Amino acid sequence: MNLFDIIYDGQAQYLQRAEEMVAKVVAEKGKETPVKFPGTAYALPCIYAITGKKITNVGELEDALALAKEYIHPAKFLQAALDAGTASAMLAEIIEAVKYVYDPTPYKGREAEDLNTADVRTLGNLTDAEIRSFGVALVTEDIPGVAVIIGEAPDAETLAGIVKDYQGKGLLTFMVGKVIDQAIEQKIKMGIDLRVIPLGYEIESVIHVVSVALRASLIFGATKPGDFLAQRTYTKNRVKAFVNVFGPWDNKIIAAGAAAIELGFPATVDTYINEVPTLLLHQPDYSKVVATSLEVRNIKIKVTEIDCPVAVSSAFEGERVRRDTMFAEFGGNKTECWELVTTGNLAEMEDHKITLVGPDIDDAMFAGKDVVRLPMGIVVKVAGKQMQKDFETVLERRIHYFTNYIEGAMHVGQRNIAWVRLTKEAFEKGFRLKHIGEVLYAKMRSDFDKVVDKCEITIYTNADEVKKLGEEMVKPIYAERDERMGALTDDSVDEFYTCLLCQSFAPSHVCIVTPERLGLCGAVSWLDAKATKELDPMGPNQPVVKGKAIDERLGVWDSVNEAVSTNSQGAVEKVTLYSILEDPMTSCGCFECICGIMPEANGVVIVNREFMDVSPVGMTFGELASMTGGGVQTPGFMGHGRFLIGSKKFMSAEGGLPRIVWMPKELKDDVAERLNKAVFEMTGVENFADMVCDETIANDSEGVLEFLEKVGHPALAMDEIM
Ligand code: SF4
Ligand code: NI
Ligand code: NI
Repeated sequence: MNLFDIIYDGQAQYLQRAEEMVAKVVAEKGKETPVKFPGTAYALPCIYAITGKKITNVGELEDALALAKEYIHPAKFLQAALDAGTASAMLAEIIEAVKYVYDPTPYKGREAEDLNTADVRTLGNLTDAEIRSFGVALVTEDIPGVAVIIGEAPDAETLAGIVKDYQGKGLLTFMVGKVIDQAIEQKIKMGIDLRVIPLGYEIESVIHVVSVALRASLIFGATKPGDFLAQRTYTKNRVKAFVNVFGPWDNKIIAAGAAAIELGFPATVDTYINEVPTLLLHQPDYSKVVATSLEVRNIKIKVTEIDCPVAVSSAFEGERVRRDTMFAEFGGNKTECWELVTTGNLAEMEDHKITLVGPDIDDAMFAGKDVVRLPMGIVVKVAGKQMQKDFETVLERRIHYFTNYIEGAMHVGQRNIAWVRLTKEAFEKGFRLKHIGEVLYAKMRSDFDKVVDKCEITIYTNADEVKKLGEEMVKPIYAERDERMGALTDDSVDEFYTCLLCQSFAPSHVCIVTPERLGLCGAVSWLDAKATKELDPMGPNQPVVKGKAIDERLGVWDSVNEAVSTNSQGAVEKVTLYSILEDPMTSCGCFECICGIMPEANGVVIVNREFMDVSPVGMTFGELASMTGGGVQTPGFMGHGRFLIGSKKFMSAEGGLPRIVWMPKELKDDVAERLNKAVFEMTGVENFADMVCDETIANDSEGVLEFLEKVGHPALAMDEIM
């Protein structure tokens, strides 16, 4: 058979199956039965993108068949063959949709708590949210490309080598067919977070990645449904996907390949085929599949050589280390753990010097122990001609990401609330603490090459030293930075900054970062934003030239509204910077604290992420947090950073800090000093923190009120809050 006949035959097989399945489902379920994939606002996304028609019930599947047939007109020229590919894609989507009519979760990996240990691991359709979660990473080329692997490799090792190579390079890999079993056999870490996504065993399940590409076009590209040329242009230019077919191909696979090619995705096959230059390639040498694929799709990978026995890739950022797979732990409320980036003297430093002070995780003293637990202090000393002190916090925040990139390492928090876990697997592969240094060194040098000319890493695990340096060196530096921030006020600067980092999962969320109001994640201060802008001029932090306020009390600026409106694609048009009731700033979801109104106390409670119990407003942190997030405005609730407690601009439109009536004790102790100082300056009230109730005093509304009255809390005498 020649290539045309192969494609037309494959397409005919899809048509036959789709017609049979539609006839069956019409007979068994009736035409009114809804048809949908879970978690998408785009109906059957491929058919919607290609034709502009939303298929929503079983009866309309018959219309969908007719729409697909419009693309069938076999002839011996390329476009006819590509159209047969498009028809095949639409037919495959119909076949998949019918599966979802019979069972809302036909892909049982969706029901698994942990994909890597589940019996069935296929995932099928991706939700819009999952696709959006890739957004920024795709935009920033943190995910440099998308691989679609179909079929069965000659052996599991070969397959694993290729998938690991893609994963190590940060690519998103989708698998269809027996390659899934080969990946499982080789213990490849799979899951949407880990960028290796097993779709399904039948070739039709490949439509779920086509759907990802077309929805990316609709969601991020805002292309018009039905304008298939626009979709194709978007996918060809922006979605850097390609297909690898392993094992003897059949006609259906090649017809699916035609669909991919029509979207601009080239395919390689290992079994002989008549090549179509730059589109369909024969690559029988498995050691060259990755290189050939990247080359044909023009994907350039920035390689950073790192001396480390495990993989280091952004694909491992989302990997969690659970208790049962954990080998060692640092911080996490059990030991002290801090991290610091400081500037050294360029002339005196020795580049790539990595020092461990204290025991390593293989120290004899841990023999027979269940878990290795150590304190840890990480000092990253950098120097460079362009280095500025202001950049230190920006580099320091990256420690979180760089450590997370390590396969088998989890990093949570920052500064002196850092928390690191390492897996047994990493340990067995030879991972030791110096490798954290190697990774940090390599990433600092490559990602910040503009400012870092030399970098030294010292890791302390010696309890005395961690404690001593933590107190004598690290805390004063944190305090000095905080102090420096304290001297900066919203009035004293000309520019605020946007932060759009969280748009990957909260697409309409925009943080406005000001000197007196840091990003709600607590990690992006105004200085951070300013430095990031200098390091990465096109990056997530852009200046907002303030101009004159429309309303000083609420904190309303035209410039801010404009920035929020533009960057949220019009989803949010107005925000105030100083009010919790009128157009409060939106939240993405990663706030350190959440503040909510407690009407009977005429004030607010603040709950931090770490607090597990129910607050006096009857909700836990999680429940309060669910009231806001995803970029929507919810008057009366506000996510914010810890550091905002102590800012005179904290909901100052409603009376500010003196409104705080309750906080968990840990949070209160943490912020007390700054809080007391600010409230004293605002009202003359001394030791305000002592007037704020906490869970050790009372946790219920009545008890809180009683306490507030006893101490004469200022909120009780203020105007009614609402
Ligand atoms: Fe940026 Fe705000 Fe997200 Fe923090 S919470 S990373 S400031 S968008
Ligand atoms: Ni990790
Ligand atoms: Ni966030």
